[in-house]
Amino acid sequence: MTTDKRVQTMKVEKITVPALRARKATRGRGERIAMVTAYDATFARMVDQAGVDAILVGDSLGMVVQGQHSTLSVTLDEMIYHCRAVMRGTRNAHVVGDMPFMSYQRSHDHALESAGRLMKEGMVESVKLEGGREVAETIYRMVRMGIPVVAHVGLLPQRMHAMGGFKVQGRNNEDAESIVEDAIAVAQAGAFLVVVEGVPADLGAKITRSIEVPTIGIGAGIDCDGQVLVSYDLLGLNDTMRPKFVKTYETLFGRGVDATKSYVDEVRAGTFPGLEHSFAAKKIADSGAAQGERRETDGASDAEVPLTEAHAYGPTH
Ligand code: KIV
Repeated sequence: MTTDKRVQTMKVEKITVPALRARKATRGRGERIAMVTAYDATFARMVDQAGVDAILVGDSLGMVVQGQHSTLSVTLDEMIYHCRAVMRGTRNAHVVGDMPFMSYQRSHDHALESAGRLMKEGMVESVKLEGGREVAETIYRMVRMGIPVVAHVGLLPQRMHAMGGFKVQGRNNEDAESIVEDAIAVAQAGAFLVVVEGVPADLGAKITRSIEVPTIGIGAGIDCDGQVLVSYDLLGLNDTMRPKFVKTYETLFGRGVDATKSYVDEVRAGTFPGLEHSFAAKKIADSGAAQGERRETDGASDAEVPLTEAHAYGPTH
């Protein structure tokens, strides 16, 4: 690859808040928005290279990374840690950091402080919080202070106990109307995207028609302006549950088990590591005997793993 070509491929085309806000696909304004979650640098690099528009560092990490039964115990410090990792792996996609349970409910000042930490320490480009009319004022204050906000209505995982579990919301007219009002309130407060989770498809469509900013659906039907999925779900890494709204595009959990079994077998059989995975000892070359010089060489060309900026995790020779 020529230097020019390499520079060209590395060009950063950052997807911005105004660019996303303008993509109201269902009104013919741009393509639908593809968002997925990521929680570390490697996943971020993978989904960024796949061309997603936005990466959500979701508090779903409490479940898929930490193995908890809900998102409730995730702390702001943990979110910041994962946001920083994702930022290191992301070039083009916009990155949203989720505000964990009780990091924005106590007071407006506390909410601003928590969002500020996610942006300053976690380095994300916007924050997401769950709720409708009751968080509209919080969103308004954040947006006025220059903090871009993604809202989240419908099924609210942080309220799973109050909602009686992870249950589809808005199934009757009254509840559906209430969720539409929530979406209108958070959009008017200044949210630039609204995640709509776990509602009937026709309600997802109605919410999308009712607001000017793009909706991002998850279990909310096809008529949203974009979709979001948990990356572990879409890649089939989650072997413990598969909600109806998830489409698994791969079966990485099973493939990972099989690959690891092969490794275990080879270690036990003494066939791994092979010569090609082994380092040669350093040799002392007697190159300048006349002058009495001694020169150290590594004696082999077997150690030439390119040390790229993203691959510097261990010794190469
Ligand atoms: O935490 C998360 O991953 C989310 C998505 C499911 C929208 O909030």
